[in-house]
Amino acid sequence: MNVLVTGGAGYIGSHTCVELIEAGHTPIVIDNLCNSSAKSLDRVREITGTAVKFYEGDVCDETALEKILSENAIDCVIHFAGLKAVGESCSIPLRYYENNLGSTMTLCRVMAKHGVKKIVFSSSATVYSGDNEMPLRETSKTGNCTNPYGWTKYMCEQILRDIAKADPEWSVVLLRYFNPVGAHKSGKIGEHPNGIPNNLMPFISQTAIGKREKLSVFGDDYDTHDGTGVRDYIHVVDLAKGHVAAISHAAKNKGEAVFNLGTGTGYSVLDMVKAFETANDIKVPYVIAPRRPGDLATCYADPTKSREVLHWEAKHDQTDMCRDTWHWQSNNPNGYDE
Ligand code: NAD
Ligand code: WQD
Repeated sequence: MNVLVTGGAGYIGSHTCVELIEAGHTPIVIDNLCNSSAKSLDRVREITGTAVKFYEGDVCDETALEKILSENAIDCVIHFAGLKAVGESCSIPLRYYENNLGSTMTLCRVMAKHGVKKIVFSSSATVYSGDNEMPLRETSKTGNCTNPYGWTKYMCEQILRDIAKADPEWSVVLLRYFNPVGAHKSGKIGEHPNGIPNNLMPFISQTAIGKREKLSVFGDDYDTHDGTGVRDYIHVVDLAKGHVAAISHAAKNKGEAVFNLGTGTGYSVLDMVKAFETANDIKVPYVIAPRRPGDLATCYADPTKSREVLHWEAKHDQTDMCRDTWHWQSNNPNGYDE
């Protein structure tokens, strides 16, 4: 299939381009590079031997989308483009609503005009309400989001669900990611957050390489096996393969479907620190710090539905996640910058 990948120069998007190419599909990328570098797509070419057609542009820009859908026979869209920093979304909420909702609505309008009615959307475990029992199933309660970023994902899901309800020709696949980590085993593509990392794994790897003095472990008094927060970390290559499965599902099914992309296993912050130290034979200095506001003690998926319906399951383990993160970090200490 010819797959329009919005936000395809980003962390998950670039890994998905690799897996799409390896599965025989043709990714066509639009990205405004607000949180990425086009060099990621050069690296995708180095890994796969295939150049990715790239349009630098904004998904909120109808004219830019018109041009792409006129020039390419798109079969399906994977919509990664979006702003994703939880803290930033609390300080500039309007920017988050404009970008994440605006891009989704403009994209769907232009798709419908061109008769392209298959979309896979990057949603998040953050749409689940904090008062659910674990593990989280697709039927668990959603809403009560704790930040504007989470609400944008919740609202985009609703917009897409309503589109699928109004026009039975649409196929909408909502993928709720848990905690993506790791990098391609080549060490050529990976995650390089701007500034101080918000997420655990980039903070661990930047501490290991000496860019950060020490990791702050946010709370050691949660009701978990060692008191630190437990999450469902998933290797980004497994996540990327989940998108290949999702476009096959969209090609064969109409209507709306939602899937968790997680492993079903939770690891604590200290489990991850120890696994990283062991896998890479390197120390990660840390201190125990106060809890981070808004954090849950525990969050992990029930991935049964993805396994049974998408025929997808995560294959990489915690050691792979830690080894591949470090391989990318140590080969590219400044990300895609020279
Ligand atoms: P990322 O920032 O690396 O990728 C997003 C890409 O979208 C970037 O390349 C950015 O430049 C681009 N972009 C943003 N707004 C755009 C616009 N209006 N037009 C064109 N391009 C635009 O982030 P990622 O981690 O690869 O996340 C991809 C998607 O998955 C996002 O929608 C994110 O919310 C979602 N998600 C991420 C995580 C995570 O922890 N990484 C978890 C759940 C969901
Ligand atoms: C993981 C664990 C922290 C940093 C976030 C978003 C979510 C989704 C994924 C997009 C927690 C602890 C972290 C640090 C720490 N993104 N931690 N020290 O909070 O589960 O999810 O990213 O959709 O929406 O909220 O991930 O990596 O920030 O934290 O102790 O410096 O690591 O308290 O227990 P989180 P995270």
